[in-house]
Amino acid sequence: MAATPETWHAVDCYIADRLLPDDPVLDAALTAAVAAGLPAIAVSPAQGKFLHLLARIGRVRRILELGTLGGYSTIWLGRALPPDGRLVTLELEAAFAEVARANVARAGLADTVEILVGPALQTLPRLIGPEREPFDLVFIDADKTNSLEYVQWALRLSHPGSVIVLDNVIRDGALSDPATSDQSVVGMRRVFDYLLTEPRLSATALQTVGLKGYDGFALLLVQ
Ligand code: SAH
Ligand code: DHB
Ligand code: MG
Repeated sequence: MAATPETWHAVDCYIADRLLPDDPVLDAALTAAVAAGLPAIAVSPAQGKFLHLLARIGRVRRILELGTLGGYSTIWLGRALPPDGRLVTLELEAAFAEVARANVARAGLADTVEILVGPALQTLPRLIGPEREPFDLVFIDADKTNSLEYVQWALRLSHPGSVIVLDNVIRDGALSDPATSDQSVVGMRRVFDYLLTEPRLSATALQTVGLKGYDGFALLLVQ
């Protein structure tokens, strides 16, 4: 069978049918996001569960997310936390954050999730301080142009053993094009250049296909 985007779609649906039970709360979160006019750029269900399992494998207690949108990935990650766990998520758009707040509350995570509104580079400094603990897992999924700054902040706010996941690093394969004029791709290439020189991070990246097209994650371990 030719590996077309239709095949990727069908396989993602097969995976969801077998491995992802019906989930009215997550469905409602996506419906509310569509109704509010948010772009349909949340992680796919299979990717959401991947992030959820990663958080459980790492027994993480503190999660930082950059880029909340309607809170879809926030719910997947928040559900991986123990009762005393905390998730802080950063969102530029106040209107998106309101949609996320309602979705997170419907998921029973209102007391677990803190949403900070504004450009992440302005809200990140609020996460430093004696009353703030380092994060065990950071999911970076905001504007791609600032990815390098976000990775550097994630490193600063984490500890040896923390995991950093970056979404959308492959972008239809544009990552490996040194002549790209797409500033999002330039932003990701800066991260990869930095990783070459940063001994505190051990990293890999995986290409993915599916409902969200051809893209991928980078996985960084703080060591
Ligand atoms: N993580 C979400 C999808 C995030 S989409 C999910 O998978 O469900 C990217 C989000 O980053 C958008 O909501 C966008 O408004 C937000 N964003 C863009 N620039 C930002 C910035 N400078 N600071 C914080 N958030 C930003
Ligand atoms: C876009 C952003 C994302 O985080 C994503 O997963 C897919 C697309 C975008 O801005 O187009
Ligand atoms: Mg993304």
